[in-house]
Amino acid sequence: MPLKKHYTTAVIISNEPISERYFCMTVECKILATDAAPGQFIMIECGKDAFLKRPMGISDANDATGTISFIYQICGTGTRALAEQKIGRELKIIGPLGNKFLVHKNAQSLALVGGGTGIGPLLFCAKKFYTDYPNIALYGFIGARTKNILCGIDEMRGFTKETHITTDDDSYGQKGVATDALFSFLEKKSVDQIISCGPTTMMKKTAEIATQRAIPCHVSLEEYMACGFGACLGCPCEIKNEGYKMICLDGPVFDAEKVVW
Ligand code: FES
Repeated sequence: MPLKKHYTTAVIISNEPISERYFCMTVECKILATDAAPGQFIMIECGKDAFLKRPMGISDANDATGTISFIYQICGTGTRALAEQKIGRELKIIGPLGNKFLVHKNAQSLALVGGGTGIGPLLFCAKKFYTDYPNIALYGFIGARTKNILCGIDEMRGFTKETHITTDDDSYGQKGVATDALFSFLEKKSVDQIISCGPTTMMKKTAEIATQRAIPCHVSLEEYMACGFGACLGCPCEIKNEGYKMICLDGPVFDAEKVVW
């Protein structure tokens, strides 16, 4: 069942680059900071040049400060306008939207596999699980094309027992992609659950690795979203034996085994 969403406004507290490619925005919005769960996203107004709100995966929610954060990449008119927004500006916002990451049954160890802006929801997940499930051993796997676009690795290290970093060009960590590091790790150790968020190719590969080893795996799917709550039917994905689902309404978190990739 969809969780309760709010139509509200948020005031920008910070809006800064965190690597060569990614920005992080933090906004004050008490109601979202209280209600948001890892895996969920918001739709946020980006500025006057961008008519539609844009979906952003929540990377942190802090009930004490009443703030939420999200990581984004400038990839079009909307995100370019968003990057120009200044501290103190009020933006319209809808959220929290979508479902959330859950711990599978009695999992005692969990791998978080991410890349791109997918690192945002994974950081929120790592923080929440680290706090709420201190007995679960968390392992992070973060990949990027090159060192200068890596982000969130210090935070991830703070929440996990081990964090494995990969770069395609060998400029930092292990050479390769995040799923290479996951594969090598699982040759020696095991985990009870995998959660993945990032590029589709990475999540698909993660799902394959999980299936081979019979590890429950959840992925957070991404799609262009116009409304964010099931009204425009613009974000379908095919789920085995269930037909088409809306990523914004039925997801974004799905059982990886059921996704038709
Ligand atoms: Fe409109 Fe999903 S974005 S239905």
